[in-house]
This record gives sequence, C-alpha cells and structure tokens, in this order.
Amino acid sequence: MAIADPAAVEDPSGVQGGDTTALPEDTIDLSACSNRLGPPPHAVKTLIDFLSEHPKRLVHPPFESENPDLFCAHKRYLAAFADYLRRRFSSPADIRVEDMVAGRGVTEHLYVLARLLHHEPVAVITPEYTGTLIQFGYADFLGPEPGVMDTAERRLHRIRRAATSGHYRYVITSNPNNPCGHFVEPEALLEVCERAPQVTLIIDEEYGAYQGDRDVSLVGAGCENLVVLQSSGKPYGITGGSRAGVLWTRHEPLRAAVAAQIPTWPLSLPEIVLACAALEGDAWLLAQMARARADAQILQAMLAERFGPLAIAPGAAIHYRLLIHEDPLDLHAHLLGHGINTRPFTSGPGRVGGIRISTPYSSAEFDQLYAALREWEGKP
Ligand SMILES: Cc1ncc(COP(=O)(O)O)c(C=O)c1O
Repeated sequence: MAIADPAAVEDPSGVQGGDTTALPEDTIDLSACSNRLGPPPHAVKTLIDFLSEHPKRLVHPPFESENPDLFCAHKRYLAAFADYLRRRFSSPADIRVEDMVAGRGVTEHLYVLARLLHHEPVAVITPEYTGTLIQFGYADFLGPEPGVMDTAERRLHRIRRAATSGHYRYVITSNPNNPCGHFVEPEALLEVCERAPQVTLIIDEEYGAYQGDRDVSLVGAGCENLVVLQSSGKPYGITGGSRAGVLWTRHEPLRAAVAAQIPTWPLSLPEIVLACAALEGDAWLLAQMARARADAQILQAMLAERFGPLAIAPGAAIHYRLLIHEDPLDLHAHLLGHGINTRPFTSGPGRVGGIRISTPYSSAEFDQLYAALREWEGKP
C-alpha cells in the first residue's frame, strides 16, 4: 500500500469529496457521496451499445422529438425520471413532466437558483452541503446552537422557525442532509409549506433514494411553494458519466425563470442514454441502497466503539456518517496515512468540525479502516 503524504495537500478541508488527484492510486476513497457500488452494469452496457450502434447521433445536437427512436433528447430523461419517481410511491402520485426542468445535476439547479434569488431573503438551514453554502453565501445560515448536537427534530424546528419568522421568502435544506445524514419526514415539511404559504421551501433530495424504498420524496406534493431537486448521479454512481438531475415545482414563475437559464440542450445524448438506462430498472438500485444502509450501520458501530456514540450525528439512515471531532485535519491525515481518504470539515459558518466518511463496502476495506482507527492516538 502506497502511503499518502498529507503535507502534499495544503488544506485538505478545501479539497472536494472525490478529489483523489494528489493521492496514491490504491487509496480507499471514502470522501465522496456517490454510490461506490455503481455504476449499474446494465446501464453501462446500454451506453456502450448505443455508442457503437449509433455513432452518427453524436453529430447533431440532441433535438427534442416526440419520437424517441429519432433523438433521445432530455425529454426522454424527464419521462424516465418521472416514471422512476412514480414507482417510488405506494399510492398514485401526480408527477407531471411539465413540472420538471432537466439540468446538469442538482448542481446546475443550485447555481441557477442561487443567481435568481440573489436579491431575495434566503435562509439556508445548516450544516449543509459545501456547494450550497458557497453558492448561497449571501443567505442567512441557520445552524444549531454552538455545542449542541444537531438532530432531524432540531433541523425541522429551524426550518419551521425560519419559515414562520416573516424574515425569509426562501428556505433551503437538503433532505437527507449532507453532511449529517438527518432526514425530516416529508409530511412535516409539507405542514411547513401549508403554515407559511408566502415562503417557498427548496428541498435538495440528492440522497432521497438512500432513505428507503417508498414515499420518501416530496415530488408531486400539491403545494406551489415547494421546489424539489433530485439527481440520477449519486444513487447510481454515475456522477462522472452523466451530470443529470431535475428540478420539480408547481411554482410556475420560478420554474419558468429556472428553465430560461438552462441551455437549449441541457444534457448530452450519452448522458441521457446512460441515466435513462439506470433509471429504468429498480432492482439494482433497491438492492444497493439496502446494502449501503446496512454497511453504514457497521461503520457507525465501528466509529462509536472508537469515539463514543455521541460523536456521530445521530439517527442517520444513509451511506455516510459525520464524525464530529475537534481535530478533523489530524484525524483525516492519520487515516490518509493508512490509505483511507475522508472528507474533513473545519468548523466555520454553516459547518461543524469533523470528518464525513462514506461506508466501506468490502471486508478488506472495513478491516483497513478498523486497523487505522485502532491506531489513532489523538483525541477520542
Ligand atoms: C446535498 C447535495 N446536493 C447536491 C449535490 C450535487 O449533486 P449532483 O451530482 O446532482 O450535481 C451534492 C453533491 O455532492 C450534495 O451533496
């Protein structure tokens, strides 16, 4: 095993999850949140077949067409996403393609929303995904009281308080949350929408698929003051192959404003073909999500044994855990020295100090992490 030189990376807290460019090749990368069990083999095969059978389709832009045999434009992606979402509800859900806008992942929608809402009073419920904190740097960050461990209940309380305060027109949160993993029940968020009709909730459901098999999304809800963001990248482990996602809302003016900022051909044909093939079958996804949740329980137990149960953001049912720690950079460097890359966060606006670790998925990876944790001699 090659040993990484932590000094080679000046500020590891500024390195994005998944960036292993400065690390030895055999480093186990637990720093990102994309599904490491992906991509689904059937989706990769569909893409390879498409490229070898229809190379000429790459010549022209992916025009919209009612005939999917002619050009597989982004409308095909929206239709596949809508079908996928409908299958995720136990009773019929009113999910219309017309309420959706395709974009290059949740990322593009966050960027567009951040630009559009720049002059609006916006609250971001924190801790939150770094990209959101950066793009909405002008917003108010509403975090837990200093020293208080966040929970899903406390997060919901802050969402409610922000929405009913009279100060904000938009409230943003990821659900499940990155980095804490907390999940607020969709019904509770709908109640907030009903109680505060003048406020629009923007819910980033990037990791919704990890939460469970059914009824965990707000897409299709009846209210107009709600925006939901979803992506096909992270759950299928195809973030490097297709940056594709959707914004769903019944808020007509906001949807039109977002759509006007998205390029004419929001997604490339290879992205559409790969993502549509991934979205078509549920068996692979459900099996991988269940496995990732189970593996993450083992990770949680391992971290709790070494750092105590109170150091881990409680109540998460997702494929990563946030370990709250006073010396995140030291701990990160220690693990790196043992061939394991994690995502360190130093505390600051919208952040809590600690490291986020995606779950290992083989016994060998778990063993390597366990050995590295046992050798940690710093603060427990
Ligand atoms: C909460 C959250 N939202 C959005 C994104 C961006 O995801 P996408 O790959 O869909 O652009 C991330 C990714 O890291 C994330 O953690």
